[in-house]
Amino acid sequence: MAGADPSALEPIERASRDELAALQLARLRATLQHAYDRVPHYRRAFDAAGVHPSECRTLADLSRFPFTTKADLREEYPFGFLAVPRAQLARVHASSGTTGRPTVVGYTAGDIDRWADLVARSLHAAGARAGDLVHVAYGYGLFTGGLGAHYGAERLGCTVVPMGGGQTEKQVQLIEDFRPDLIMVTPSYMQVLIEEVRRQGKDPAALSLRTGVFGAEPWTEAMRRDLEQAAGIDAVDIYGLSEVMGPGVACECVETKDGPVVWEDHFYPEIIDPDSGAVLPDGSDGELVFTTLTREAMPLVRYRTRDLTRLLPPTARSMRRLGRIGGRSDDMLIIRGVNLFPSQVEELVLQQGALSGHYQLEVSREGLLDQLLVRCELRPEAGGADCDAVGAVLQGRIKTLCGVTAQVVVLAPGALERSAGKARRVVDRRPGSRS
Ligand code: DLL
Repeated sequence: MAGADPSALEPIERASRDELAALQLARLRATLQHAYDRVPHYRRAFDAAGVHPSECRTLADLSRFPFTTKADLREEYPFGFLAVPRAQLARVHASSGTTGRPTVVGYTAGDIDRWADLVARSLHAAGARAGDLVHVAYGYGLFTGGLGAHYGAERLGCTVVPMGGGQTEKQVQLIEDFRPDLIMVTPSYMQVLIEEVRRQGKDPAALSLRTGVFGAEPWTEAMRRDLEQAAGIDAVDIYGLSEVMGPGVACECVETKDGPVVWEDHFYPEIIDPDSGAVLPDGSDGELVFTTLTREAMPLVRYRTRDLTRLLPPTARSMRRLGRIGGRSDDMLIIRGVNLFPSQVEELVLQQGALSGHYQLEVSREGLLDQLLVRCELRPEAGGADCDAVGAVLQGRIKTLCGVTAQVVVLAPGALERSAGKARRVVDRRPGSRS
């Protein structure tokens, strides 16, 4: 397969672990010093923790430095975390959270340049090559998906169609007319595009697309199989978050599809116990934490992503991989004491042949008890199926495999709300909830 040709890789993608670690340590020390010298928050936080950048002599010493949280970024809204004068920014993005102020992220021209390089590297890992046509259906604007994908695809030498999110019929028309090789979009909106092609009486697998580069929200192996089969593509996982950069912090290799490779020469990952903050060994489940190694405008030290996953050993590249992101700690539902992620329900929904991958979880409270309602939909081709019977099977599977009693409602095809970007998988109607 094309992606397996090692001579086409950047040297650092196949460097030895020692070479990589030496580069990481040099960059880490520079980042800690840059943050301490230029960002008052870091000077205060390092001083309060009694650590100085000069004390970081090994990568393991990083664990002595304090974490940075989303709340810290919000405190300094809008520009307090910048390590360069505002006038040196080439661009800002912002991530909207469900409440309160957005988190603002600043980029120098150099940061944008490195971001384009890393998305180009990600796309190359996904199997894209110069000359490919790339349809970008991530939203453009303050969200990092559209512009991040766009610059990276251009950097690789691809032709970009900057479609953005929404206008589903037009998306499908342009895909048919322009014949893209790759599409970059959230997995949930890819489902919507597939549905639209079928609604028009056409076969999505007959489209020109070879690869989908999907991310920006949690998705499962079951969803991968579903999208690959439906559209006749390779579905590749791309990961990122605005605070740390945007898309392209990590990306899967198409030849292995075994979890996104963290571009460790630019981002140092740690997995911590979310309660104690202790660093956990590779392979353990915990919260992903990143320290940026090359960001100029907004270096981040030990940023707590709230994404729950694990670090896996290198395979197709010399850098470590992320396990499937089960969800964010904030997406975890606790239903009558049992922890549940929407992605666990997604696996079970997609195991029911009659159900499409559209689903929504609604949590409410009756008296003191949490109630979980799972809404899902029949696939259009399963129109004659018995909704009650399908629902009862799913309900039994959720009880057995997740340990949660749920009410399951199976709706007609198309009944659930569709989103043009990140899907809203959970509606929490419990008092005090924000969603
Ligand atoms: O979603 C950046 C992005 C755009 C990534 C396009 C990939 C493709 P934010 O809006 O700041 O940035 O959201 C970041 O989305 O912390 C994860 O919880 C989730 N997320 C992103 N990629 C994945 C993925 C963009 N591949 C938050 N799998 C992150 C699971 C993902 N979750």
